[in-house]
Amino acid sequence: MPGYELPSLLRARLEALPDGLRAHVERVRQLARDLAARHGIDPRMADLTAAAHDVARHIEPRRLLDEAGRLGIGVNEVERAEPVLLHGPVGAAWLRDEGSVTERDALEGVRWHTTTHPDLNPLARVVLLADKLDPRKLRQYPFQEQVREAALRDLDEGLSVFLDGALRQSIDAGRLVHPASVAARNALLLAKSC
Ligand SMILES: [Fe+2]
Ligand SMILES: [Fe+2]
Repeated sequence: MPGYELPSLLRARLEALPDGLRAHVERVRQLARDLAARHGIDPRMADLTAAAHDVARHIEPRRLLDEAGRLGIGVNEVERAEPVLLHGPVGAAWLRDEGSVTERDALEGVRWHTTTHPDLNPLARVVLLADKLDPRKLRQYPFQEQVREAALRDLDEGLSVFLDGALRQSIDAGRLVHPASVAARNALLLAKSC
């Protein structure tokens, strides 16, 4: 099923993306619409947010750092070491400033789709999960099927399973962990224990 009509500025941004990235975005749009419908979230907003989520994913690390500085985005030490983590915040700021996406929840979804965040709105949760559920990411996330099953039941469960798997992977590989991911996992665990 084709996606909804997109704002023209966003459409232009999508058309300028490298082919592989654009194909990923189209798969995520479909996954996000389906997951949104399943959880009573507006599929049109899910489609828009998914369409927008990776507009800065192809940008080189040096330029992401420069853009973050120019746009007044605070950069922590993990992001400085791994600037790819800034593609959500930079993309969201571009879309906000040019007015191609104005909805706050959608911009939040773009901003935090890589690391997550403790207070992520439901639309943003859907898009983050849809991004991780792209079948082409199975090798990156071998626990993808467990995420899918959990996400179909409950968005928080899906996020928990994803964060557990992703953080475990990072630790096993000796990689840095973004503080927002740790905070998000703690928030989910604390919410469950209440
Ligand atoms: Fe991304
Ligand atoms: Fe993505």
